[in-house]
Amino acid sequence: MPAIVLIGAQWGDEGKGKATDLLGDRIDYVVKFNGGNNAGHTVVIGDQKYALHLLPSGILSEGVTPVIANGVVIDIEVLFDELDALTARGVDVSRLKISANAHVITHYHRTLDRVTERFLGKRQIGTTGRGIGPTYADKINRVGIRMQDLFDENILRQKVEAALYSKNHMLVKIYNRRAITVDEIVDTLLSYVERLRPMVVDTSLDLNTALDEGKIVLFEGGQATMLDVDHGTYPFVTSSNSTAGGAVTGSGIGPTRVDRVIAVVKAYTTRVGAGPFPTELHDESGEFLRAAGFEFGTTTGRPRRTGWYDAPIARYTSRINGVTDFVLTKLDVLTGLETIPVCVAYDVDGRRFDEVPSSQSDFHHAKPIYEEFPGWTEDITGAREFSDLPQAAQDYVLAVEKMSGARISAIGVGPGRDAIIQRHDLLES
Ligand code: GDP
Ligand code: IMO
Ligand code: MG
Repeated sequence: MPAIVLIGAQWGDEGKGKATDLLGDRIDYVVKFNGGNNAGHTVVIGDQKYALHLLPSGILSEGVTPVIANGVVIDIEVLFDELDALTARGVDVSRLKISANAHVITHYHRTLDRVTERFLGKRQIGTTGRGIGPTYADKINRVGIRMQDLFDENILRQKVEAALYSKNHMLVKIYNRRAITVDEIVDTLLSYVERLRPMVVDTSLDLNTALDEGKIVLFEGGQATMLDVDHGTYPFVTSSNSTAGGAVTGSGIGPTRVDRVIAVVKAYTTRVGAGPFPTELHDESGEFLRAAGFEFGTTTGRPRRTGWYDAPIARYTSRINGVTDFVLTKLDVLTGLETIPVCVAYDVDGRRFDEVPSSQSDFHHAKPIYEEFPGWTEDITGAREFSDLPQAAQDYVLAVEKMSGARISAIGVGPGRDAIIQRHDLLES
């Protein structure tokens, strides 16, 4: 049972961190394959709460080897801070491996992220401001800095010069900012080298070897399907492939290796930042979900936009990723609602769409068509078997499962590690 991919089904913050943690005891490697410190995963273990950004959340499981693969963009200062904070709390981070091909986020990427957002005005994406987009842009433009470049000062200087030349023109002439010197960037990056050296390796080789040896490798996606740069709500997306395919290109394993694709989906929907969101609520139901689900960003603290479950999005996710199992999270948050609407299709200017429309304009105009399900009032946070749930909650899960394109194998009923109902083994078909 070798490679398992775990991704977000909606617009992020579905509870991927907790789902990864659920598999923790059974996996040998956990791999972050996309994104960077734009991600924010909260994992609650007993009375301890951990917020992870750049490191894969599987790092919290004892004995697991964490890997930051080539598809990730790395802010090295954030990496060190996160490692230090975890070490101070007794987490063993000594096995961490980082790909020599991963790209580096520098000061100029963070600066450009913030100024370009400001200049977009009304068309802002609402990025996390961590330099993610500009770093991936440099990668695609072939002027990026990779981890391996840090070990050759000569090469590093040449690459930083090449990257900064046009950026300084832009910063000074268009954005009215000060120029950034090659020296300040190179000196900062070189100061990281000694600490990084033992961690930076050929992670693709390591992962393929691990799979050959029958080890269990979990590929943990940051962001989510609807934020994927190809398959999400472009341009209101992140700049990487956060879908299952990204696990392959972002880590250097072949597609034939992947056995299971687990999508984490919330029992309702949230989104941070701008962009279309058909089931978004602007009334007291939306407030209810925000308060009951504590929907505030782990990374930026921004209040998350909230709305009902969107079944066409779940089906879309199922298709794009080849989902084998869903983990449905935060079912407990719906407790106390009289009825629970689920979006089953869209109305776009009088036309019915049963699936997510491929035209961006149509999706922007999509109005949800709802089916209503009876709610429940019983506290479900102690449920550990499906049959412990009140009938209405069971019916809701079964109805949602039928509409979503794959089985729901686990159900989250609270933030804690053990607040979960397991219906099917996530590692077995
Ligand atoms: P991620 O980015 O997908 O890892 O998700 P986040 O950590 O950003 O957001 C999910 C939040 O929901 C975290 O605060 C989790 O502790 C919490 N959470 C996860 N699963 C459940 C659940 O089943 N019920 C409740 N009430 N909270 C959950
Ligand atoms: P996790 O892994 C929710 C959103 C930002 C913005 C857009 C682009 O915790 O689910 P970026 O900084 O990536 O260029 O911002 O993507 N975004 C997320 N939203 N959860 C995340 O990660 C996100 N990472 C990025 O809010 O709308
Ligand atoms: Mg998050």
